[in-house]
Amino acid sequence: MASGPRNVGSLKQQIAKLFEESLRRTVPDELDVDPAIASCQNPKFGDYQCNNAMGLWSKVKGKGAQFKGPQPIGQALMKNLPPSEMIESCTIAGPGFVNVILSKHWMAQSIHNMLVNGIETWSPELPVKRAVVDFSSPNIAKEMHVGHLRSTIIGDTLARMLEYSKVEVLRRNHVGDWGTQFGMLIEYLFEKFPSGEVSSAQAIGDLEAFYKASKQRFDSDPAFKERAQKAVVSLQRLGVHLEEKGESFYNPYIPGVLELLNEKGLIEESEGSRVIFIEGKNIPLIVVKKDGGYNYASTDLAALWYRLNEEKAEWIIYLTDVGQREHFEMVFTAAKRAGWLPADDSKYPKASHVGFGLVLGEDGKRFRTRSTETVKLVDLLDEAKSRCREALIQRGKAEEWTTEELDKTAEAVGYGAVKYADLKNHRTTNYTFNFDQMLSDKGNTAVYLLYAHARICSIIRRSGKDIEELKKIGTVELTHPDERVLGLHLLQFPEIVEEACINLLPNVLCEYLYNLSEDFTRFYTNCQKPRAETLVSTFSNKNLNTMYKHQYICFIDQLKSAEACFEYFSGV
Ligand code: ARG
Repeated sequence: MASGPRNVGSLKQQIAKLFEESLRRTVPDELDVDPAIASCQNPKFGDYQCNNAMGLWSKVKGKGAQFKGPQPIGQALMKNLPPSEMIESCTIAGPGFVNVILSKHWMAQSIHNMLVNGIETWSPELPVKRAVVDFSSPNIAKEMHVGHLRSTIIGDTLARMLEYSKVEVLRRNHVGDWGTQFGMLIEYLFEKFPSGEVSSAQAIGDLEAFYKASKQRFDSDPAFKERAQKAVVSLQRLGVHLEEKGESFYNPYIPGVLELLNEKGLIEESEGSRVIFIEGKNIPLIVVKKDGGYNYASTDLAALWYRLNEEKAEWIIYLTDVGQREHFEMVFTAAKRAGWLPADDSKYPKASHVGFGLVLGEDGKRFRTRSTETVKLVDLLDEAKSRCREALIQRGKAEEWTTEELDKTAEAVGYGAVKYADLKNHRTTNYTFNFDQMLSDKGNTAVYLLYAHARICSIIRRSGKDIEELKKIGTVELTHPDERVLGLHLLQFPEIVEEACINLLPNVLCEYLYNLSEDFTRFYTNCQKPRAETLVSTFSNKNLNTMYKHQYICFIDQLKSAEACFEYFSGV
């Protein structure tokens, strides 16, 4: 355990613990029932809800009627809750839903703890210690294009979310570097022997020397080199770090891994190839081609084996477009049949394919430039930046700022906008690439979130308050309704990250941060000045001002932490 206070668990987890105990008391014979806790859709009813009564009723009815229906079960669940300072009150709604209202005092205390101990002590606990995230993964002889944008951005964000949740993440760039080398050999072969007069004996006999010569050519070909380098530059610009372990790395492992699968009786002969038949699939997974060569699938089987057995990863996550779903389904099924992975998908170690949709142009078709070439990633980033720069100049910033400041801001906003526009969509939907929309300062955009963040920072700066001092004072109070809403939202950060991690959905986190900015704006508008009338009756103007200054600065610091997490997650 790292130094500092122990992880407290999310609000949801803490409430679940209380209801778990109540369930044991209420229905001692139903030990396999887990508490079903959800946050309330309608805040009118409460903050959280326990939804077990209906399900329990269908289980226990007929078995000696201790309860007369779901409602009495709900009543009993409520009555049997162990006493807890986190709960203010409970009510029953409909067929036995137990609505929970959290104690304002407890919430305030928890926010203060969050402020003092840091938001890191609120990271969710995930069931794995080490994960591989296989993302970006272009083919190195080709330019990175917009299709790799999604893999890179979504993969990087998932890796960050897992890292925040204290999972050790091995970030892997599974570059296509293997087919390339063969392509290079063939290319060189044609160049050397254009009329095909080379005999196979000659070629094979000289293969090593031949490889070296073609490699030299490859290395000295500036066009090739530039393309490979540009791919790397794109990653750096996006602030993405990952380790290259390309296809060729797993080459030496393929024969041994195929032998393991063969021993389990998984590999069969079919039309001259060696294949694995997968139930429910029309075509088998080819692992050795007719010519005896290995392919994409044999490499992925070897890589999966290596990641599980050599790297001891408990969760292996792959990011590619949804088009490769079938491939991964087959690879994972083979691994389950070989006993490398449990058959039950809810158990770990686990392999997950994170598929994503296409990037579309304004015309609703696959995103291309006018000349129908694929769009290069570097060009997109350049354009986002230059548009932002232009907007800043139009606002007169060229006179106020140095060129460097102008550039840095344009980069933060421009690249951030490109990233956020991608992340905020559910990843499986196709998304339309639109500079005007993503660079707008209104609506759910990075620009709006950055604006909210900048505003909070400036409020802190102008207040002249020292956050360290405020930590010592330790009085957060949640008086105004908008303040309570903001407080609850802050406290829900860990369960949102958890949900986003478990389901591998960055858009869940984006939505949270967008709502956080909105909640903050509402709070700030309504509570900032004595015109927050509900409160004026309680305090003199002076008190109100002093108190509120303290309070919202505490909040702001939290918000800043959460916003900082946003920056961290999306690298804006
Ligand atoms: N290089 C592949 C492509 O661009 C993606 C590789 C994904 N990772 C994997 N382990 N297959 O299509």
